[in-house]
Amino acid sequence: MDRESEVFSQRLEKHHDELRWLYMELYDNSSMFAELCNQMRQFYLDRKKELKKRDEERASDPDWYKRNDMLGMMFYIDNFAGNMKGVESKLDYIEKCNVNYIHLMPFLETAEGRSDGGYAVADFRKVQEKLGSMEDLEHLTEACHEKGIQICMDFVMNHTSEDHEWARKARQGDGEYMSRYFFYDNWDVPSQYEKTVPQVFPTTSPGNFTWLEDIKHYVLTTFYPYQWDLNYKNPRVFNEMMYHFLYLVNRGIDIIRIDAVPYIWKELHTSCRNLPQVHTIVRMMRMISEIVCPSVLLLGEVVMEPEKVVPYFGTVEKPECHMLYNVTTMAATWHTIATRDVRLLKRQLDIVNALPKEYVFLNYLRCHDDIGWGLDYGFLMAAGMEERSHKQYLNDYFQGYVGGSCSRGELYNADPVTGDARFCGTTASMCGVEKAGCEQDDGAMEKAIRLDIMLHGYMFMQSGIPVLYSGDEIGQLNDYTYKNDSLKAADSRYIHRGAMNWKQAENIEKPGTVEERIFHGLQALEKIRASEKVFVSNADTWTIETGDGSVLGIGRYYEGEKIIGLFNFSEFDRTVRLNETETEEYEELISGEKKGLAEMPIPGYGFYYLKMKKL
Ligand code: GLC
Repeated sequence: MDRESEVFSQRLEKHHDELRWLYMELYDNSSMFAELCNQMRQFYLDRKKELKKRDEERASDPDWYKRNDMLGMMFYIDNFAGNMKGVESKLDYIEKCNVNYIHLMPFLETAEGRSDGGYAVADFRKVQEKLGSMEDLEHLTEACHEKGIQICMDFVMNHTSEDHEWARKARQGDGEYMSRYFFYDNWDVPSQYEKTVPQVFPTTSPGNFTWLEDIKHYVLTTFYPYQWDLNYKNPRVFNEMMYHFLYLVNRGIDIIRIDAVPYIWKELHTSCRNLPQVHTIVRMMRMISEIVCPSVLLLGEVVMEPEKVVPYFGTVEKPECHMLYNVTTMAATWHTIATRDVRLLKRQLDIVNALPKEYVFLNYLRCHDDIGWGLDYGFLMAAGMEERSHKQYLNDYFQGYVGGSCSRGELYNADPVTGDARFCGTTASMCGVEKAGCEQDDGAMEKAIRLDIMLHGYMFMQSGIPVLYSGDEIGQLNDYTYKNDSLKAADSRYIHRGAMNWKQAENIEKPGTVEERIFHGLQALEKIRASEKVFVSNADTWTIETGDGSVLGIGRYYEGEKIIGLFNFSEFDRTVRLNETETEEYEELISGEKKGLAEMPIPGYGFYYLKMKKL
């Protein structure tokens, strides 16, 4: 056997029994399993030399993504730089942002106007023409790798677009393809599903089924009517989707974001969320990638409460995803701004900090999606905040109506039945930069910028990988132009998916501009984060009692070094008392000032990064 085949065989050997066991448990089909193994071998053989080298390098440094200098940025290719080649020409800017991981938002073939921001894929092996080609993608991944930048892409495996070849064949009545989706010729079964399955888009796309008049069938569509849910009970669906996955990683992708992962398995009389079979599938995917392309990381998109999120890491012996989004922390952060009360956030961070340090979270202030108010209402209720009225308060606050708010933004999927709504806006607009700019109020602008930078400082203090949404680094505002586009107008998420304003970005060189102040504010923090090893993902992290209800304290410790972060979530000056650390001496890393912690004033929306002097 040559060396290549030997490497593959060893890796397959390592996982074969468990993989086969799980596969047979779901599908009881050994010939399809044999086909999967053959295809894995083929994808391994097709994998480029440079990528195999990466696989080996990372095998000897499996914690590489837990480094303290990791920083991500996400963007839509067209909004950021027109097309793939444009992105390549902007890599210097990406480096200037200290970013070493880019998430290219969905770029595969999709039908214009029925794309859900690219999350309705019509062809998993074709790049949207306006963005470039597969060759451009490979060129871009190579250019990124040369600069030490990782590339992440979405793998939308829960559904295909109705324009996908399988869907088109199914629509022509071809049973083989109909069996890859969920079709019903009457309302009996769908009506039973509707009793237990919640709605994802209650306003923009109510219900979970779509009636297809031409073939007189209902089809399951959890998201938009043009996104047809795939039926993973069919092993052909699983196998083919795994081949697409391997095809894509062989283009040089480092991180696969598994879109909408909790939804991929459906069972009648359940919520069709987080079913045990979903974990079997993710575990199989992890083994498949460890066999074919072990340098690739799996990032699960699980937008759920913490108890539902954490199981997607799997166990130490049987890992599933490498990384997950820290979604509840994100939502709790905005709640804290609106209430100036850090109790919930502190409790949320305590939950996250108590998890095994191997778990890596992606931290973010906002992404391309809405902010859902998935908070711990049991806890809030005890503090006098009732769910419905509190959600109403948060939505009113961030629209700028109540609570001394300076935020601007819009509701998303306001549900007239439950009274529920989520929220959309860019970080800067939600921090007050938009309002202060419109009103030409310098004092308000000062406050807004402080809040914006403080929030980033707090996000960088958490364990895991911080990810910026492109444009946030220069304080880009909400983009209301989507309202003039009939294909987008109904979906307010487009308010925070505006095109990167490169003219505005030039201001980062002009002292005193909003762009310059935010960009350099962030840059200073990024440099500290990258140079202090206490920011590695597996450092000890805990929250600290600060003696003030609006000031959050976070401690980090790693190999003899200790940093304390203090973050004032109110616009008013506060005083912090940290009794237990009275004898220690600290240096504030941003200003370079020495500080004792016994009694410390902290300005409105101010924050400190305090490093303990070596004893
Ligand atoms: C994920 C995406 C979201 C999309 C949905 C359906 O949640 O983040 O933008 O609408 O999946 O694919």
